[in-house]
Amino acid sequence: MDKEKKILYSGMQATNTLTLGNYLGALKNWVKMHEEYECFFGVMDLHSLTVRQEPAEFRKNARSLYALYVAAGLDPEQNCVYYQSHVPTHAQLAWILNCFTYMGELSRMTQFKDKSQKHADNVNAGLFTYPVLMAADILLYQADVVPVGADQKQHLEICRDIAERFNAIYGDVFTIPEPYMGNTGARIMSLQDPDKKMSKSDENPNAAVMLLDDRDTIIRKFKRAVTDSDTAVRYDEEAKPGVSNLMTIYSCVTGKTMADIESEFAGKGYGDFKMAVGEAVADEMAPIQSRYKELMDDKTYIDGRIKENDEKAYYFSNKTLRKVHKKVGLTELIK
Ligand code: TRP
Repeated sequence: MDKEKKILYSGMQATNTLTLGNYLGALKNWVKMHEEYECFFGVMDLHSLTVRQEPAEFRKNARSLYALYVAAGLDPEQNCVYYQSHVPTHAQLAWILNCFTYMGELSRMTQFKDKSQKHADNVNAGLFTYPVLMAADILLYQADVVPVGADQKQHLEICRDIAERFNAIYGDVFTIPEPYMGNTGARIMSLQDPDKKMSKSDENPNAAVMLLDDRDTIIRKFKRAVTDSDTAVRYDEEAKPGVSNLMTIYSCVTGKTMADIESEFAGKGYGDFKMAVGEAVADEMAPIQSRYKELMDDKTYIDGRIKENDEKAYYFSNKTLRKVHKKVGLTELIK
């Protein structure tokens, strides 16, 4: 563990394949961070259990997400990339933090309100205490920074509140994490309704590009992307949300500025522009997809990294857990 570096923690739920939005908004930005931070990235499979999962498919998705993390560039030898469920300290600390979290503050979480509407037949206690487990994830590693999307900001705030409450009673046990504001995590919108976030659960299959879509599918989805009745490729989120979203995607992939893109397509129609975006995205996905296939076939390599990183995560997180046990007055383990 490099003590000079600050600690970064993040992760995604282990469900479904990732969208281009997850990649450009999160993964792609995480890849370079290990140079500056000591990074921990979890496959958050315990969180996924708050919604009913089909076991075989769930197991496959969790494996697939691990391989996608690695294929997208999160080197498991530079970063600690591991499964949340393999490291028992998460559930252990979550229990203790439950006793420092109020029903009132959990009831105010917008994600809980949304999800309990969406899954009205299964409003379970896990869904309610979801943010407490997330706080445990972060606090176990003494994370300084947590890159999260706007939808997770409230969860990070409650994590800070819980940590501050605990520290106020027991002294400085937890580092108070900051949301990560660096390198803009782009917000990628639906290709069919650019007022909505690109989502894997969208009913319209053309709304989201999946990371594992093949080249033709990617290009076809971009060709069908909703734009406007104007013809100019110009960045204006209000008046031209569809075109602006495509420009954001193109910019994330090519590194070009909005001004560059405007001049590149000056005098050309939307057809050319959409084709260029589709091809650029397909070109970026191609090496990730082939690396993904290799990794899914190389069980020995992936299993080796999982084991190594599970152990590293346990070693590090257990230090925090032991400290917490001691502070709250649980009796010590007999060695
Ligand atoms: N709740 C996060 C999401 O759905 C996933 C997550 C779980 C997470 N634990 C975390 C993200 C800890 C950052 C840090 O996106």
